[in-house]
Amino acid sequence: MRMVDLIQKKRDGKLLAKEEIEYVVNGYKNDTIPDYQMSSFLMAVYFKGMTKEEVSYLTDAMVNSGETVDLSGIKGIKVDKHSTGGVGDKISLIVAPLVASVGVPVAKMSGRGLGHTGGTIDKLEAVEGFSVELSGKQFIDNVNKHGISIIGQSGDLVPADKKIYALRDVTATVDSIPLIASSIMSKKIAMGADAIVLDVKTGAGAFMKTLDRAKDLASTMVEIGSHLNRNTIAVITDMNQPLGYEVGNANEIKEVIEVLKGKGSEDLIEISMAIAVQMSILGGIYQTQEEARAGLNEAIESGKALEKFKEFVSSQNGNADQIDSIDLLPQAQHHVEVKSKQSGYVKDIDAEAIGVAALLLGAGRQTKEDKIDYAAGVSLKKKAGDEVAEGEVIAILHFNKDDHQQAMDTLYDAFSYSNEKPEKRPFVYEIIS
Ligand code: URA
Repeated sequence: MRMVDLIQKKRDGKLLAKEEIEYVVNGYKNDTIPDYQMSSFLMAVYFKGMTKEEVSYLTDAMVNSGETVDLSGIKGIKVDKHSTGGVGDKISLIVAPLVASVGVPVAKMSGRGLGHTGGTIDKLEAVEGFSVELSGKQFIDNVNKHGISIIGQSGDLVPADKKIYALRDVTATVDSIPLIASSIMSKKIAMGADAIVLDVKTGAGAFMKTLDRAKDLASTMVEIGSHLNRNTIAVITDMNQPLGYEVGNANEIKEVIEVLKGKGSEDLIEISMAIAVQMSILGGIYQTQEEARAGLNEAIESGKALEKFKEFVSSQNGNADQIDSIDLLPQAQHHVEVKSKQSGYVKDIDAEAIGVAALLLGAGRQTKEDKIDYAAGVSLKKKAGDEVAEGEVIAILHFNKDDHQQAMDTLYDAFSYSNEKPEKRPFVYEIIS
């Protein structure tokens, strides 16, 4: 086989066979295919796309490029959840204890954040003592004993994706549905999931700016799941503004606790419930949506879900007293109110800009080496559609740094206003299975 022939085949819109795709992935991972040929191949995929079969072969070849996690020591159907990413996205921290409390085993590996606020793992580390580094055996034992464990990614999972993603980043080929879909699904499959629920975000603050693109990505991933025998369901959700009211780390943990107590922001409740319903059905706990909704609501109302969160925190050496008394979580020294300069309705809140404001306050990292200030972040006081009077507080900045001016300016720019009440957007657009 010659790489040049495979590039030409894809360039001309012809179909690639399984062995040909394996040749490309393995050759690139093993350095026998150079960057310039792989770049050319990726650009051909960008323009010509891939069939569902091709994209499944690509995913499989990426999974097989490295180690895979064996979760067979855990009883039950292991359902993983993945989000395509958003600001204020704490849904994993809500649904994991919620579904675990009704019997779905949660064995999750999550990442750290880069670019704006922390990822799931960083948020958990805002709790004093919480350890995300368990041995493989401890991880499995914790899931069998407590029904839940979340750890940082370890091992050499999907090395081909790491290398291909780095090349896509500098060759303008990130934004390709088959390449995104295979990249995400290969990681979920390598992490040992039996079934997968995908939270595909759409809107101004999401990777997929339009609903059509989000649907395309969602259905491609669902098809990959079906080709590779992993039951997969995608929930398409809104990311036109940050999720919930809190953006940061410790303050997001506080908001998770609120939702697990049956309170909290409408968008968080609705999206978490939609995802938890799908996870608990795929996990074989409930048969129908109605049954799942009733069971999950009962877990929240009875306090079972919050108890499970506390049990999970303790099981990974976290200080569960901070869950009982949220004032014990890291607190910033400074809290500055941001007041509206006009009256009207909040039209939009640019999610990315809020993420940047939180980052500037210290809640995230710009480089891998940066240290997170867990107490820093933004609390929104208004959401899109809310009425606001001039001088009313729209947000509070929490920080320990000397300077917050740039964050304040970024936050002001993030809010846009209108004189008429804007139409309410749905939180959940569609479920694709
Ligand atoms: N997230 C991933 O893991 N891969 C992509 O290609 C895009 C987003």
